[in-house]
Amino acid sequence: MTWPSSRSRALLAPSILSADFGHLARDVGRAEAAGADWIHVDVMDGHFVPNLTIGPNVTAAVRAATTLPVDVHLMIRSPERLIPEFVAAGADYITVHQEVCPHLHRVIAEIRNAGVRAGVAVNPSTPVELLRDIVHDIDLLLVMTVNPGFGGQRFIPGSLDRIARARRMLEEAGRAGEVHLQVDGGVDHHTIPSVVGAGATVLVAGSAVFAKDAGPEDTIPALQRRIAEGQAEGQDDHGS
Ligand code: DX5
Ligand code: ZN
Repeated sequence: MTWPSSRSRALLAPSILSADFGHLARDVGRAEAAGADWIHVDVMDGHFVPNLTIGPNVTAAVRAATTLPVDVHLMIRSPERLIPEFVAAGADYITVHQEVCPHLHRVIAEIRNAGVRAGVAVNPSTPVELLRDIVHDIDLLLVMTVNPGFGGQRFIPGSLDRIARARRMLEEAGRAGEVHLQVDGGVDHHTIPSVVGAGATVLVAGSAVFAKDAGPEDTIPALQRRIAEGQAEGQDDHGS
């Protein structure tokens, strides 16, 4: 498998949606100290998705709390209106949803022209193949494995085929070395090996990292061990 980062292992991006919002900087710091690769910021508008979360100000606070890449997932309508604000807040990646962008190419160009890496997300009901003509212009493709809006939902099983198809599409387009294949929703101890086996390179995890009974100090190394196990299994299966 071709990898978009110099390290050929899947990255872990804790979602702060499940962190303690009263102690956000502390929780971001704990995740970083425990070995997180990116920090995932879930922005929801109460329209595209039913939930309402945070905006550019809190994103800037996250930026100030970490040296890790800040990965902003915009679950909002008309995201083009807020891109300058999220750029100014210090985002390293900005991902928009295909379902709300009739002029996706223009929005992606706007993000990249601002010097930020651009991603496109697809909901579970959106065929990943709809992104075939944009893969040459993006840095990240996000396959949603739950319906976006809330943390702590169950991974939709049919998603594995979608991840594998997205992986194939990137390989066929010759973009697997540049485009991260991110997976978001229900990523935990149980689902990680198959998600990694299907070809994901960045795993978002919220409730599995900021768990009720354990902190990121314990959950992050444990999830990373599952990633390593999943990759080792995949190599055995493929004999490489
Ligand atoms: C869902 C968000 C996710 C969410 C994942 O709409 O985009 O990033 O935080 O949470 P878990 O890992 O609990 O499914
Ligand atoms: Zn997300």
